Amino acid sequence: MSASTTGVQTDALFIAMVLLCGGMALLLAGIIVFFAVRYRAGSSANRERPPSHANGLEAAWTLLPLLLFLGVFAWAAWVYVGQRQPPADALPVYVTGKQWMWKLQHPGGRREINELHVPLGQPVRLVMTSEDAIHSFYVPAFRVKQDVLPGRYSYLWFTATRLGDFRLFCAEYCGSEHSAMVGRVVVMQPADYARWLQAGPAEPGLAERGARLYREHGCSGCHDAGSIVRAPSLDNIFGRTVHLQDGRERRADETYLRDAMLLPAQDIVAGYAPQMPTYAGQLSEEDIQALIAFLSQPRATP
Ligand code: CUA
Repeated sequence: MSASTTGVQTDALFIAMVLLCGGMALLLAGIIVFFAVRYRAGSSANRERPPSHANGLEAAWTLLPLLLFLGVFAWAAWVYVGQRQPPADALPVYVTGKQWMWKLQHPGGRREINELHVPLGQPVRLVMTSEDAIHSFYVPAFRVKQDVLPGRYSYLWFTATRLGDFRLFCAEYCGSEHSAMVGRVVVMQPADYARWLQAGPAEPGLAERGARLYREHGCSGCHDAGSIVRAPSLDNIFGRTVHLQDGRERRADETYLRDAMLLPAQDIVAGYAPQMPTYAGQLSEEDIQALIAFLSQPRATP
């Protein structure tokens, strides 16, 4: 039984396709057997009169299955697109795959290894990357699976619909301990989840750590109002559309902000000089997550 909204949709689609395809296969096999028997050598079936009015029939058996299967395609496309677009209020959690474990980071500060606690009935959005090989985040009960790649973010979202523990696997061969890269997702009542978040060791929140890195790496020296070097303002940058020098537009999501830190030369903001240095090699994945958490908070330069 599935345990997420995605699972309910995926299962319904899967069962419908099995029934439809199975029904079609049985129907066709039945027709083949029927005609093979009826027109076997030596049977007395009438072979004299070829059908003269079969155009309508032929159109029907062509068009009906076509429409039926196009309908399945539209349904599946609708489910797929929905699974690619997390709701705006989804709770972000950062996932880092590493040979051979899952590192989970809640924006509130709490960190976990190979265990992910989530609240029941609330959309959760995973922002995932890898420190080494390609992994794949797979929760069978939620019917979700997504590759986790080094050097970029991939996304996954779900809304859990049942309380309990669900198994988490790595579904991409990633080295000798791949089969041991397992964990669990714990679905809790929202109130229990809130208590669990508070109960962790007193660590600074991700955004707080990001604010510290923002100062330490000198980001504020260029990006804040009143600085000598003129760089784009990062106030409330998250989710905005950024216009680039070469005419492209990018939405300032996690992927954009990550690229802006590591590959600044590829996305020069319209109206600004290409003078941002790359921070590749200076920031760990955790540092980047912290900076993004800081930048995605509502913020205004004092
Ligand atoms: Cu990680 Cu397989």
